[in-house]
Formats: sequence, C-alpha cells, structure tokens
Amino acid sequence: MNFYVLTLFPEMIRQGLSASIIGRAMEKGILQLNTVDIREFSENKHNRVDDYPYGGGAGMVMAAGPVVRAFRSVKDQIAVSSGSNESTVSNETPVSEKTPRVVYLTPQGKVFNQSMAEDFAKEENLIFLCGHYEGIDERALEMIVTDNVSIGDYVLTGGELPSMVMIDAISRLVPGVLNNDTSAEFETFQDNLLEYPQYTRPDEFEGRKVPEVLLSGHHGKVEEWRRQQSLLRTVKNRPDLMEKAILSEKDKSYLSKIKQ
Ligand code: ADE
Repeated sequence: MNFYVLTLFPEMIRQGLSASIIGRAMEKGILQLNTVDIREFSENKHNRVDDYPYGGGAGMVMAAGPVVRAFRSVKDQIAVSSGSNESTVSNETPVSEKTPRVVYLTPQGKVFNQSMAEDFAKEENLIFLCGHYEGIDERALEMIVTDNVSIGDYVLTGGELPSMVMIDAISRLVPGVLNNDTSAEFETFQDNLLEYPQYTRPDEFEGRKVPEVLLSGHHGKVEEWRRQQSLLRTVKNRPDLMEKAILSEKDKSYLSKIKQ
C-alpha cells in the first residue's frame, strides 16, 4: 500500500511514522510512505504558499496553485509506477486509470472510525492532504478531494496529526503489517464491542490479583469471561456502541441479568 502525504511539514510525518510496527512494515516494503512538500510547488520568489483571505477576516489561506500542483505531481508518480500504458484483459478500469482517493483532513469532515479504516485499507494508493492556517482555497479542494475526514470534534493546528492517526489505523489492517494475522480481528470494535482487559505476569502485583478464571486453563470459561467483560465495558464506557453491537442470545441473557 502506498501513502502519499501532501504537507508543509514532511519531516513531522516521516518521524511520526518511522517507529515501531508501521516503521518496520515500511522497511519490509509492505507499506510505502511518500511525503510531498507543498512549499516546493510554490511559484512565489519567497516560497510562500499562503495569502490573505478574500473578503477579509483573521488568518491566512493556503493558495490553490501549490496544492493542486503538488497533487498533480503525485498523480503522475502513481501513473508511472503502475504503468500508465498498461492494457487490461478484463473490462475493469486499469489500475493506472483508477483515480486515487484524496483525503482532506478537516474538522468539517466525516468522523473517522474503524469501518472507514477498513474501507480505506482496500486501496492501493491513498493521498492525504494536510491543511494549515485557516484552511485551503476552496477551489483546490473542489478539484482534488474525494473524502473529507475529521478525527474527532476538536480543532487541531493542522492535518498532519490526523493523517498520521489515519495512516496508523489503516496500515495495521494491511496484510503482513501485524505479526499475528489474527490480532487485528479479535479486538476492540469486533462486533462493535470494546476489548476485554488483559493481564500478564506476575499473577499478583502490589496486592492486585489476576482474575482466577484466567489461570484456570479452562478455555471455554476464559472465552465466556472475556465476552462478559467486553459487554460490561461497552455498557459502562460506550453505551452508544450497544445499538450496533452484534449480540448472541447468550450475550442478551447476560445483559438482562446485569441490568437487574
Ligand atoms: N484539522 C484540524 N482539526 C482536525 C480534526 N479534528 N480532524 C481532522 N483534521 C483536522
């Protein structure tokens, strides 16, 4: 999977994603991260990329020119690396002609969640556009953006952190990125429930014991306990998720018992 990030702070993106699991997947070539410095596409002699807003008001706006030119350089790069002259045997659109999705990080976008991460993880190429100042000239956004995405209802200083959040969440769903193939499957948001608590050695820490059932070696009982803990946590911390939770008859009877 290839990520392209259009940004005024390429170093921030590279450093933020160079460690741990994502960094290793990049070294292995499973993921590729390409940062594009929007400033390099300025045609201003001082390399400026922002200007005053028409109509007045506070702050500066990123101009359309550098953003659109940076985007086109990425589009050309994608076309070259996927072979723009390739013909296909089937009637499907050739990879090179499929317009890559362009994600603009903005608090005005759709709020990011796990199912969006799963959807984005199916793409071969993803382009992220990080804004700064008071935003980007609307015409550039109209021309290139396919998805407006927010990472939550708060305002950050730029799109760099949100793009890193999205790249992390998407990357771990790409086959081969996590060591254990199944570990992305059975976790928080599986069945729309939160994950159960985890413990490791020692079995007693400063007077706090690991729940007895986990030491029992009884697989069925462990699974039952974990499921109940997931249900309990979701009801307590994120009751809003319960509406979409996938529940068995056993889950339902447990829930009716704890509600009494
Ligand atoms: N840019 C500024 N705030 C943001 C947010 N909450 N999500 C995505 N992009 C942003």
